[in-house]
Amino acid sequence: MRILGIETSCDETGIAVYDNKLGLIVNKLNSQSFLHNKYGGVVPELAARNHLDQIFIFLQEFEKKKNFFSSIDAIAYTAGPGLVGPLLVGATVACSLAFSLNIPVVPVNHIEGHLLSPMLDSSNLNFPFLGLLISGGNTQLIHAKKLGVYKLLGKTLDIAVGNLFDKIAKILDLKYPGGPNISELAKFGKNRNFKFPRPMINDSSLNFSFSGLRTFIEKLVKFSDKSFQTKADIALELEESIIEIFIVKVCRALKLLNLNTLVIVGGVSANCRLRNYFSNFSNKNDLNLFLVSKKYCTDNAAMISYTGFLKFKSGVYFPNTDIFVDSKWCVDSKRKFI
Ligand code: KG4
Repeated sequence: MRILGIETSCDETGIAVYDNKLGLIVNKLNSQSFLHNKYGGVVPELAARNHLDQIFIFLQEFEKKKNFFSSIDAIAYTAGPGLVGPLLVGATVACSLAFSLNIPVVPVNHIEGHLLSPMLDSSNLNFPFLGLLISGGNTQLIHAKKLGVYKLLGKTLDIAVGNLFDKIAKILDLKYPGGPNISELAKFGKNRNFKFPRPMINDSSLNFSFSGLRTFIEKLVKFSDKSFQTKADIALELEESIIEIFIVKVCRALKLLNLNTLVIVGGVSANCRLRNYFSNFSNKNDLNLFLVSKKYCTDNAAMISYTGFLKFKSGVYFPNTDIFVDSKWCVDSKRKFI
């Protein structure tokens, strides 16, 4: 069985093919960061247009391969959450292609795709587990009970943590996407002169809030010297404060659910300091930790084709090719497709 996956929820165009015997046999990704760099964030209209150009470049490459399309059993695509224009591009291409090949489509929830992404290279990850999804558009704690059954335990009440990294990077004159640049800069941080607030850390809920932290740093930068060392110290303290918030909330959630398997996914999970802290934390607490491998941290179609494969195998797909997108599709909504 072969599933073609399409990812266009934000600023990465991805196409991948997952084969039940061979695993991932195609994994193409084109990042648009060059396009959005000068704006310091993603411009939805530009993103949608670029997806449309890039997706056809990939499809034309595949057309040259003998029997490529005839070997596909279904097409999975990211149907939400995400930016509506970019989502519609992927959905329209997926549904049109499926119609012409006379095969079904599998609308995939982007968050579920991220949650299952560690399974691409860890066969020993099993349900149930606690998922910490930290990306550019989302920050969520999720109880993953079984395939398709999730409970959202907490989420950001304002901006996502990746978005915070991108905004602080802009303030510090670093390029978009900010996360990797802040992470590099933080390596030079050495003075722990700054103490940032840890918003909602003592709040009994499992929700997060990062916009106050952004305002705090914005004001701090305005009134401090703009030396490289000061910027590096700010980047270091930013990472430290965020990691502390995540450790506290994750501990609380694991205790509440009596679980000892933790999955960390999404673009921000590429952060080295965060990976080190959580690895030490899991060793000390005898936790099963699954950190998504760095190549699948940010948005990609590998996770969409793999999730599409699991869904298709369990009978969850659209028998017809009606276009469906939901830009706010919550991972625990009870949507049924058949
Ligand atoms: O998963 P992803 O592609 O999410 C969405 O587009 O929603 O993640 C992108 C986010 C960006 O905000 C980027 O700044 C952040 O992940 N990111 C990082 C790192 N690498 C990427 N944040 C912190 N440290 C990193 N090393």
